[in-house]
Amino acid sequence: MTAAPPRRIGLLTGGGDCPGLNAVIRGFTRTARGRWGATVVGIEDGFEGLYEGRMRELDYNEVAGLVGEGGTMLGTTNKGDPWHFPLRGADGAIEIRDVSARMLERVREAGLDALVVVGGDGSMHIADRFAGLGVPVVGVPKTIDNDLSATYTTFGFDTAVSIVSEAIDRLTTTASSHHRVMVIEVMGRYAGWIALAGGMAGGADTILIPEIPFRWDAVCRHVRHRAMRGRRFSIVCVAEGAKLPEGGEVVQAIDTRRTDARQLGGIGAVVARRIEAQTGLETRVTVLGHLQRGGTPTAYDRILATRFGVAAAQAACRGASGVMVALRGTDIVTVPIAEAIASLRTVPPGHPLVEAARAVGTRFGDEPVPPGEETAG
Ligand code: F6P
Repeated sequence: MTAAPPRRIGLLTGGGDCPGLNAVIRGFTRTARGRWGATVVGIEDGFEGLYEGRMRELDYNEVAGLVGEGGTMLGTTNKGDPWHFPLRGADGAIEIRDVSARMLERVREAGLDALVVVGGDGSMHIADRFAGLGVPVVGVPKTIDNDLSATYTTFGFDTAVSIVSEAIDRLTTTASSHHRVMVIEVMGRYAGWIALAGGMAGGADTILIPEIPFRWDAVCRHVRHRAMRGRRFSIVCVAEGAKLPEGGEVVQAIDTRRTDARQLGGIGAVVARRIEAQTGLETRVTVLGHLQRGGTPTAYDRILATRFGVAAAQAACRGASGVMVALRGTDIVTVPIAEAIASLRTVPPGHPLVEAARAVGTRFGDEPVPPGEETAG
């Protein structure tokens, strides 16, 4: 759908932060202002800032030097869903309310002709609903999880994978010195992309992801067999969203202020305890956590984020709405936001990366175990 070119465009970053957000802000602001003469209004802290009317104009020079900076100069929140918005009542208790009408008013009051939403799966759902209210919206896909459909990849993912890879390199030398098993738990929510790519890059011996159900006997047998062959250490890279053989993910906390209240985390410790108990080998766990999201983006992510920012400015200034910029092959295109949120992009179990990892001997904990060895550990 196209409309009259917008002259005053609101820009916000939503959801968890991610390396490359600032490069998008720079690319967007410089293109929209410098090339199209549009006014860019930066909205603070995502949809929360929109609700509270916290916004300010961004000029060309203000975004200088941002290409390699981590985080987001605008701030962000993952508790700003307009249709599931936490508000503190008079009694101090949190109530979940629909404040979409108020947010729409804020857009009108600020004179915004369009809204550009830089976010992941949750933010794209919100962007799509907002477009339905009649506000021209352009989405920019960000997430370290790489779980958005309709784009080959998202910026932030490459940085997260590099951090996992480096962490595994470091864990491998200490694991090898002490003849230990090291379990590393990585992020990714319900998708195993970070564990798969980071585990492969770091040479993990076993990778456990949500998309490939694993069994304890297969995991422990591989660790034990390596030890018997003289490889007295093992590296197990586990995605936070991997499902236990007994069923379900390990949930660290519940936060009802978020649309998805489940905060994943803790599976690394469960896996480590089980391996130690079943193999007798000393096992340690490292939870990489937010290190995967902080700090400077890789060169690949800086370039992708810049291209996304430029393309989003062009789309918004041309009057596009209900679309998200996306990477297809080597081209940046626009796709309907609806396409991006139709389904979560998870790892197909027969994906070429999985096949390549198996070819070099990496295990996924689903390998057959010979009869009689099922419970031997
Ligand atoms: O979506 C990005 C992500 O880092 C996930 O990988 C992780 O499950 C989640 O966000 C963590 O969220 P929070 O920063 O709120 O703990």
